[in-house]
Amino acid sequence: MAKARTQFVCQNCGTIHARWVGKCDACGEWNTVVEEDPMGGIGGGPGKTPKKGRVVALTALSGEIEEAPRIETGIGELDRVTGGGFVRGSAVLVGGDPGIGKSTVLMQAAAALSRRGQRVIYVSGEEAVAQIRLRAQRLGAAETDVLLAAETNVEDILATLADGKRPDLAIIDSIQTLWSDIVESAPGTVTQVRTGAQAMIRFAKQTGAAIVLVGHVTKEGQIAGPRVVEHMVDAVLYFEGDRGHHYRILRTVKNRFGPTDEIGVFEMSDKGLREVSNPSELFLGERNEKSPGAAVFAGMEGTRPVLVEVQALVAPTSLGTPRRAVVGWDSARLSMILAVLEAHCGVRLGQHDVYLNVAGGFRISEPAADLAVAAALVSSLAGLALPKDCVYFGEVSLSGAVRPVSHTAQRLKEAEKLGFSQAVLPTGSAELPRGNGRRWAEIDSLPDLVARIAG
Ligand code: TYD
Ligand code: MG
Repeated sequence: MAKARTQFVCQNCGTIHARWVGKCDACGEWNTVVEEDPMGGIGGGPGKTPKKGRVVALTALSGEIEEAPRIETGIGELDRVTGGGFVRGSAVLVGGDPGIGKSTVLMQAAAALSRRGQRVIYVSGEEAVAQIRLRAQRLGAAETDVLLAAETNVEDILATLADGKRPDLAIIDSIQTLWSDIVESAPGTVTQVRTGAQAMIRFAKQTGAAIVLVGHVTKEGQIAGPRVVEHMVDAVLYFEGDRGHHYRILRTVKNRFGPTDEIGVFEMSDKGLREVSNPSELFLGERNEKSPGAAVFAGMEGTRPVLVEVQALVAPTSLGTPRRAVVGWDSARLSMILAVLEAHCGVRLGQHDVYLNVAGGFRISEPAADLAVAAALVSSLAGLALPKDCVYFGEVSLSGAVRPVSHTAQRLKEAEKLGFSQAVLPTGSAELPRGNGRRWAEIDSLPDLVARIAG
């Protein structure tokens, strides 16, 4: 056999280059291209005789198909993001920064499932068995029947999993530590990570076990990010949170068997992660109601309404180019709102620094937050506090028009539940509840909002 030619693979995005380059032109990252063996475990052996596959008519399947069989953990916030529990025969990737709590939540899930009579194996390539046990003790999970293994070699792990009774759930922590005999690249490279993940996914499909793969994300792109694995698995959950805050958010970014945009909210305590079933109360907990520049946004995260405070500080600048800093929101979107305020509302911000923060380290991705952001900005600039029992939502277009958004009734219901009796929202919003001292101000343009706040 001819000597296999090597290829150059970007460790950040998995793009294959013909020769070594300093910067990957697909993802724009520097120094991420590494030389690897192209046959990396994927059909590198002697040729095999092709075998005919089985085809079935689509119509023949009716009656045969049921709902995907799931293993519910009983941890409500986790089951919410998976869409009702882990699906048998599927693979889930749980990604997140190191130290965010991936191992913690998965050990809790393992313990919960074990208490429900499921067989769970926790394979760790990062910690020794004694260390995992110590954590389990802290989580009150030490007395469960969860099986532990400290293993990094893919073939060994498969042998361990296949031994004796098959697991209902296997947790592999983490894919970056996996290495296979059939690949020559170093552990942590894209080829190794991909080969390892592929082997685990195959195991899931063959045995009907649910597999959870843990993947660390690093900012530097030094270790192969789990991005390459995202396409291979059935669901991808991201664990996010701010080190300065106690709570953590588990977010679905891909799910073949359930909703995508759901979040699960947890709070990190000394006994592990605790479920937070009413996140709005948590995010509004530290509110200072009298200060200008704070507006409460009635948002939606998947099927759940979440109220968060948007804080803005607009101050005269001492710099030639004023600063714009954003935490928890899209900075391009902020620039757009600033431009619309300048162009259509006569609000001059060219000589002002603008800082925008979403309270509690929460991250908003909805365009419906436009109105709350604009309200916070105008309130800060004018030095006038907004009414403390008022929420804001609505999308702002470049023309300055305020557009209706989805789920109006749910947003308002959550607001009322938390004691808000006023709302500023787009004209034409459907499903508005009336009466009972409710005050909904429907506006159709951003100048209306500015007039309301600044008079
Ligand atoms: P861990 O689950 O090990 O993170 P990951 O697997 O994502 O790298 O969580 C580590 C952090 O969580 C660590 O800083 C300690 C903290 N922690 C608690 O605060 N309480 C606990 O009960 C546990 C187990 C961890
Ligand atoms: Mg860990």
